[in-house]
Amino acid sequence: MRRITLMQYLIEQERQTGWINADLRLLIETVSRACKAISIAIGKGELAGILGSAGSENVQGEAQKKLDVISNEILLEANEWGGHLAAMASEEMDYPHQIPHRFPRGEYLLLFDPLDGSSNIDINMAVGTIFSVLRCPEGVSEPDERAFLQPGTAQVCAGYAVYGPSTLLVLTLGHGVACFTLDRETGSFILTQNEMRIPADTEEFAINASNMRFWEPPVQRYVDELLAGRSGPRGRDFNMRWVAAMVADVHRILIRGGIFMYPRDARDSSKAGKLRLMYEANPMAFIVEQAGGIATNGHARILDIQPTGLHQRVAVILGSKNEVERVTGYHAA
Ligand code: F6P
Repeated sequence: MRRITLMQYLIEQERQTGWINADLRLLIETVSRACKAISIAIGKGELAGILGSAGSENVQGEAQKKLDVISNEILLEANEWGGHLAAMASEEMDYPHQIPHRFPRGEYLLLFDPLDGSSNIDINMAVGTIFSVLRCPEGVSEPDERAFLQPGTAQVCAGYAVYGPSTLLVLTLGHGVACFTLDRETGSFILTQNEMRIPADTEEFAINASNMRFWEPPVQRYVDELLAGRSGPRGRDFNMRWVAAMVADVHRILIRGGIFMYPRDARDSSKAGKLRLMYEANPMAFIVEQAGGIATNGHARILDIQPTGLHQRVAVILGSKNEVERVTGYHAA
């Protein structure tokens, strides 16, 4: 079988489908190289003294791990000089990162969560990187936060890397979803799954059930019904899985179906949810929809939400179509 590298795949998309141009190709290649570097750093773990806390907090008031800071630096440094970007934004930075004046500017905005699920690092479990690409609005030369506040439907491309037993890169250019596996010997990402599809039905759900007492009634009702199993209204048993790294939970859903929920809850009424819209929910919603799934906040399609802040939070319900529709319907009831 012909091995198709990520670079070949992208060149073919550029030549044959016109879905991407040379700048976007460079952007994706650069992000993939950064993910490779992050994967290598994670693989060294304790041997490189990079586990544990960095002793700082990010804009959300969360303690940063050393690898959060390292991954952020890797992505910034890799993407600064290529001339394909107008600016970058990250979970780990309060404000957008401007491209230094000594480098040319491009037409794209890159957003990322450099290390998703970072509480998994110290226990040697899967973590990931999530990214989203937008176009810089015309006439904007120093993109500030406002330039980034575009709905998820405006994304030109999105993807994530999962650093698990293998390192994978999952990508959508808005025409389906492809998965590449890092060949650690050659250093290339190889196409290992094309046209990924999420089954419409599932018997698997993912939610942090320790928050059950804080959930709103529609989520409470839905999960109660799942837990009741065969003797309940659903008439069948469901299984629960929770990796506590969104990338890994979403990846499982892309492989074998399922529903992932991080709903709004009553712990802090000022927060619409836990996950961040711009660099977690939007790219994942784009990927999930491109694989035939659905993503809502319980009330509306995530990709249609008009963002009001770079770091805003959102409730997330995504995955297999029929289950997401059901629990979204409970919100309307
Ligand atoms: O980025 C937030 C995140 O780490 C997600 O990757 C994950 O799904 C979630 O938080 C886990 O949250 P909790 O610690 O509440 O289970």
